[in-house]
Amino acid sequence: MPAPTPPALPLVPRPTRAHARGGRFTLDAGTGVRVGDGAEPAARMLRELLAPATGLPLPPAEDGAVVLTLDPALTGLGDEGYGLTVGPRSVLLRAAQPTGLLHGVQTIRQLLPSEALSGAPRAGVRWSLPCAEITDVPRHHWRGAMLDVARHFQPVEYLRRYVDLLALHKINVFHLHLTDDQGWRMPVPAYPKLTEIGGHRSRSPVGAEGDAYDDVPHGGAYTRAELTGLVAYAAARGVTVVPEIEMPGHARAALAAYPHLGNRPGRTLDVWTRWGVCDTVLGVHDEVFDFCRTVLDEVMDVFPSPSIHIGGDEVPVTEWATSPEAAARVREAGLEGPGALHGWFLSRVGAFLIRNGRRPVAWAETGADLPDHFAVMAWRDPAHALAAARRGLDVINADHRRTYLDHPQRGGAQELPAQPGAVVTLRDVHAHDPVPEGASPEAAAHVLGAQAQVWTEYATTPARLEYLTYPRLCALADRAWSGPTPWRDFRSRLDRHLPRLDALGVPRHP
Ligand code: ACM
Repeated sequence: MPAPTPPALPLVPRPTRAHARGGRFTLDAGTGVRVGDGAEPAARMLRELLAPATGLPLPPAEDGAVVLTLDPALTGLGDEGYGLTVGPRSVLLRAAQPTGLLHGVQTIRQLLPSEALSGAPRAGVRWSLPCAEITDVPRHHWRGAMLDVARHFQPVEYLRRYVDLLALHKINVFHLHLTDDQGWRMPVPAYPKLTEIGGHRSRSPVGAEGDAYDDVPHGGAYTRAELTGLVAYAAARGVTVVPEIEMPGHARAALAAYPHLGNRPGRTLDVWTRWGVCDTVLGVHDEVFDFCRTVLDEVMDVFPSPSIHIGGDEVPVTEWATSPEAAARVREAGLEGPGALHGWFLSRVGAFLIRNGRRPVAWAETGADLPDHFAVMAWRDPAHALAAARRGLDVINADHRRTYLDHPQRGGAQELPAQPGAVVTLRDVHAHDPVPEGASPEAAAHVLGAQAQVWTEYATTPARLEYLTYPRLCALADRAWSGPTPWRDFRSRLDRHLPRLDALGVPRHP
């Protein structure tokens, strides 16, 4: 009789190579962990993740059956890959770098019964995992998720949970959209009014159309300690927090706090209470660049990420076109007209970040106008990703038709409020190839990866955020880590992954 086909391992994202073997390994109260040099953070994470549901102590032990080792000579695994061998009597997790071990810990967690992900003690469960041989290396280095905390603020405790869920899916970039027209969420000591005034709006729109408002003030800001704590919390889980400070557009909250940074001297503005694209943008006078440098100095102090996002999207030129100061700047810089101030502005601020050893990131508006040395977050048109990669710019593919999770997952009135516009189905997200069609190998090498976006005009609570994010983020994670996987293979793994989300209490889309 032919041997039965071993069941596919229901892991999300799908590992590069995985073979299920017969038999199982069981963790119990006596199981110890042999922790190699440099593997302590991963051992701590394993304990921390499994303790609430299993109560297992998993103490360090020289003869422990679970072995975590770090071996920089395992070069084929890169910075994030790992190898995992589960046998009937031992579990061996190896990586070349600490982040690889952290990803491997998440795989061990997924191989256990789904109850292991519960936040409360679960009695009567045998904590066993299938014997398996796994070698797993991500296809893309940037596997991101953006959360907009400017339109609706979420407390830092919730951001930590968001990070926990990203780490489960081996998403390694948490892009935090900290400022926008409707709110500024990061304190900057030299400009205290950014959060005192810019952190609060008087009301928010109700519904997508018309002039209805809720008349409920909305506000909030993080402390520096909360943000540095979040950075450390995420790093311990293999996630880098990439901050975004929007400029020169989407800056109305900053202009409400410091009107002299705008284009109309003597004007006062409110923190915007509408959704959409706002005409008011930063000016181009010297004080504005002093402001940007001071803010970004604080941002770089709090966020060690190699990349810093400076927005750059949706910048109407209406104000620059009628401002004498902007006209003087156009002449002095030898620009063609006020439209060229967009690229000029970003290039000045980008150069400042580069001098400080950071890589500027911006949303692509046209695919052509971003300065060199920027990484491009292509959201609007797939052609922008291709154009930027062909130009030799690094690209994060954030095509809104495939990665904007604030859009509804299906049509119809049964859906919770979501961004009006196109439906983005689970299948659309799964079909999102970070490498644009038509890219040569040279251009493809500039594609850093993919990112999901959750804008929060309509996502007001953690429950709504998670309902929008899951399970679609599982599809993005699969694609960005594993490359193309057949839809049916993904669906069958996802069906066995959903009980894990349920154990974590994620209010996911059905
Ligand atoms: C964007 O959606 N405005 C980047």
